Amino acid sequence: MAMTDGPHVLVTGGAGYIGSHACKALRGAGYVPVTFDNLVTGWRDAVKFGPLVEGDLQDRAALDAAFATYSPVAVMHFAALSQVGESMQVPGRYWRNNVLGSLNLIEAATAAGCDRFVFSSTCATYGDQDNVVLDENSIQAPINAYGASKRAIEDMLRDFEASNGLRHVIFRYFNVAGADPDAEVGEFHQPETHLVPLMLDAIDGKRDGLTIFGTDYDTPDGTCIRDYVHVCDLVDAHVLGLRWLDEGKGSRVFNLGTGTGFSVREVIDHSAQVTNRAVPVVEGARRPGDCTKLVSGSTRAENELGWKPHRSTMDRMITDAWRWHQTGHYSE
Ligand code: UFG
Repeated sequence: MAMTDGPHVLVTGGAGYIGSHACKALRGAGYVPVTFDNLVTGWRDAVKFGPLVEGDLQDRAALDAAFATYSPVAVMHFAALSQVGESMQVPGRYWRNNVLGSLNLIEAATAAGCDRFVFSSTCATYGDQDNVVLDENSIQAPINAYGASKRAIEDMLRDFEASNGLRHVIFRYFNVAGADPDAEVGEFHQPETHLVPLMLDAIDGKRDGLTIFGTDYDTPDGTCIRDYVHVCDLVDAHVLGLRWLDEGKGSRVFNLGTGTGFSVREVIDHSAQVTNRAVPVVEGARRPGDCTKLVSGSTRAENELGWKPHRSTMDRMITDAWRWHQTGHYSE
């Protein structure tokens, strides 16, 4: 099948970790993913399943040109700065890049008559709510600039639906891990800040050790609890979300998590078992902006989209991440 067959979807951030997996899933589902990426945190080598438009969300003319060239039926918007810690130090970068960039993108989409939009939001928009079941109706009270920037974009989408009929699906991700089982694409950030790849680096000696950020949280073992989702399950939900919009259904918000929490120490223990190696660990201070516990309390995506996160066991996520870690890499 030629690369131009099938409806086009503009994938911002298609050269990044989640976006590249989404491009593979879209291609498998019969769409042509057109990556729009400035390659600041993404990788040219990760764009394997459709064309690459090298451009920045701040550049409205480049966006307009991409819509004119490819006439996408929908947008999947992944491109963002996404480091919680960094967002506390340089919030302006997050508001400018994430919020103003998204405004440009949304205005370009509506100007081009593209009215389907799938947006990657985050459970970080909920903030730190002790003993609260986090579902899509939970209060959004972010405690870091990253979460605040994503919440603002959610609001923006609602306003543009009212004014321009921009139908959208918002996915609030919990923690994403794992990699393509074929290791065609995987997780590679420079610098890396995420738990699983840092831990795998520590296991095979590329780093001295893994620092646990805080052991005095109010959790059973003192470390933070997160709800981890396999990246391939996560992007499957995006294809289902796109079909939801293709079928003419209305805008909807979905949490993407499994409802099961793992502490940092539990993730370390699973990794030691899966790799059969020791994880060198150092106990350190808390990282600013980290929430104690973030676990989804919703099955809306399963019930309404028919989403089945069947790969999201911790062992499977670590196994696939480890395979990518050992065999895959990007050179550019
Ligand atoms: N952690 C460590 N040591 C490290 C790195 C992480 O102990 O070297 C801990 C963190 O403190 C946290 C957990 O491992 O408790 C997961 O941390 P990550 O950095 O992997 O992920 P975050 O939970 O900070 O952030 C991720 C995404 C965000 C998203 C957020 C929602 O990167 O985009 O999940 O919780 F908003």
